[in-house]
Amino acid sequence: MIVVTGASGNVGGQVVALLATAGERVTAVSRRPAELPEGVRQVRVDLDDPAGLKDAFDGADALFLLVAGQDPQAILDAARAGGVRRVVLLSSQGAGTRPEFYRHPVAFEEAVRRSGLEWTILRPGGFHSNVYAWAESVRGGRTAAAPFGDIGLPTIDPADIAEVAATVLREDGHAGRVYELTGPAPTTPRDRAAAIGAALDTPVRFAEQTREEARAQMLRFMPEQVVEGTLAILGEPTDAERRVSPDVERVLGRAPRSFADWAGRNAAAFR
Ligand SMILES: NC(=O)c1ccc[n+]([C@@H]2O[C@H](COP(=O)([O-])OP(=O)(O)OC[C@H]3O[C@@H](n4cnc5c(N)ncnc54)[C@H](OP(=O)(O)O)[C@@H]3O)[C@@H](O)[C@H]2O)c1
Repeated sequence: MIVVTGASGNVGGQVVALLATAGERVTAVSRRPAELPEGVRQVRVDLDDPAGLKDAFDGADALFLLVAGQDPQAILDAARAGGVRRVVLLSSQGAGTRPEFYRHPVAFEEAVRRSGLEWTILRPGGFHSNVYAWAESVRGGRTAAAPFGDIGLPTIDPADIAEVAATVLREDGHAGRVYELTGPAPTTPRDRAAAIGAALDTPVRFAEQTREEARAQMLRFMPEQVVEGTLAILGEPTDAERRVSPDVERVLGRAPRSFADWAGRNAAAFR
């Protein structure tokens, strides 16, 4: 049985669906109720609640773990006690490139490495789906605002992250690996606005924000340290952050999906 945390979320929900389709027994963990495929067991628990975790992990072999909750060691102890032997951690590219800003993912990576379990770490860059932040302004006024409009980064499709996770959870040969997950090519925020316009068949205007405007907006839903790290990546990316990684193709045997492909599949959110 495979336990999937973050099952009510973007990536975790897709991991659950892929595993269930592949015939795996799955336990889906989240605090909010999640819409799940038939036959998937739901455990609603906070990752900070050790007693609830005991029930979630009972009889499990593998774990898909998000960076959530405050005590990775306690989560991994409960997992091991329940029978888990393999853990796949969804960390973040910033844990490698900007550890000073990404302390929470770094702490989870360290705990996973010393857990004694067979581990694989996934380090995605920014998600294609971060442009959901534009959904309201595109629907209402065909406008998309972001800072650093001409700086390109190879964002990744969350569906590809989920597919890599589901593969690594089920397949041998990935133990002790750290996979950097990116899309197939860099795109700039301006390119992404144009791709949404193309998917809608109507132009979307790009409005360049100042760093301060973007900072104020991000602080409404992200901790300050993560905001600073994110702005640094978006505005002054290092070579490592700009690079297209071969790892999605290594694991899946096909190229990662482009931003334009994501926009085509998700155009309804912007209509
Ligand atoms: N967006 C990016 O550009 C980016 C880049 C690199 C890495 N990441 C990482 O990727 C991860 C997944 O992204 P996503 O888009 O799938 O996120 P998401 O849609 O926001 O989902 C987050 C999930 O985590 C669960 N969760 C949060 N705190 C929890 C807790 N204390 N106990 C139990 N469950 C908890 C939420 O469930 P409930 O609220 O129902 O509990 C939800 O299912 C994030 O952790 C993020 O750090 C994102």
